Amino acid sequence: MSAEVRTPPTPPAMSPALTALFRRMLDEMDGRESVEWDPTETTVDANVYGDPGIHKLEIDRIFRRLPLCLGHADQLREPGSMIARDILGLPLLLVRDRQGEINVLLNVCRHRGARLVVGQEEVCRHASLSCPYHAWTYDLNGALRGVPSAEGFPTLDRASRGLKRLPSTVRHGLIWAVMDPTRTDIDVAGFLGGIDDDLAPLDFGSHKLFRQRACKRATNWKLMMDAFQEVYHIKRLHARTIAPFFLDARTAGEGEGLHTRILVGRDRLPEARNLPPEAWDMRRHATLTHAIFPNSLIIYHPDFTSHMGMFPTSPGEIQFVHTMFTPHEARSEKERAHWERSFEMIDGGVFHAEDLFISEQIQLGVESGANDTFVFGRFEQHLRRFHENVRTMLRE
Ligand code: FES
Ligand SMILES: [Fe+2]
Repeated sequence: MSAEVRTPPTPPAMSPALTALFRRMLDEMDGRESVEWDPTETTVDANVYGDPGIHKLEIDRIFRRLPLCLGHADQLREPGSMIARDILGLPLLLVRDRQGEINVLLNVCRHRGARLVVGQEEVCRHASLSCPYHAWTYDLNGALRGVPSAEGFPTLDRASRGLKRLPSTVRHGLIWAVMDPTRTDIDVAGFLGGIDDDLAPLDFGSHKLFRQRACKRATNWKLMMDAFQEVYHIKRLHARTIAPFFLDARTAGEGEGLHTRILVGRDRLPEARNLPPEAWDMRRHATLTHAIFPNSLIIYHPDFTSHMGMFPTSPGEIQFVHTMFTPHEARSEKERAHWERSFEMIDGGVFHAEDLFISEQIQLGVESGANDTFVFGRFEQHLRRFHENVRTMLRE
């Protein structure tokens, strides 16, 4: 009987910037000083997490201006697939039309404003959109098609009474939109800058939606962005879940425009020391996180990917949307069961029970007056940079 020979998985292609970051992480592991810590600690005012005036400015000057990622395009597989979800107070309807394009429409009838599709969670399928109030009907791309008793509207300009739409596009398999119906332009590649180069070779467009879960959690959105831009907490907060998979504080990260890329060394990282750069594996030897400003996190687990979107509903609450996607459909029941367990562990066990839990605990304390400021250590430099970016945008 011959021994089973296992071919090592082909590592995902890394952009030059990611490869350089990986090299820095190896240097860090071997004790060669490589990661640039801040010269000293910094602080952030605690009221940035609870002040209603700051919250309003954040919505107007950040969330309504920048492209936001709403999830993976494979969620809407067939023409007519749609999902209704309120994001930042806008009732959105994401619809794949007959031409295969994804439209991000306002879920509001242009007659007298009724909501066309009710539901926040489930993808549904309809051949067209019909208003439950008086049955005006719209194509899947939002064009007004049918008006019962049309003689009652002798001067109606149908062309201008289509559903309002947001500028949107699919890039790298992800749905992006600008939450401002008065805008028509969207430039995701320009917005992502160097992160676009990281995403390009990963071929997310061919990945498949495995699961999505959306729910409200009582935390400021920035507390979750903070939680995923430092590794200081992994060994403590995640001691009972993912901590054993990671080396302690073997990490390298950097800003890329408004965004951040961070590699965290996994227990297998020492293997990479003797491998050529083309064999370095950002999922097997490490875990990559992209923090895409303002509110997206992409986490590259060993054999699946998580996108998290933190959509504020108030200073102390978010709509939290976690989308898990996989490189292909599950090819066996065993693989499906494995990914089911992975989702339960990461979504329920880690994101909800640990990171969101602690963020909610912090939020409870924000109003107490215990802290005028929070302090960021020298190695929590990405939080300092993130908060500077927020403050800069609020001034513009
Ligand atoms: S409000 Fe939609 S048809 Fe009247
Ligand atoms: Fe965490």
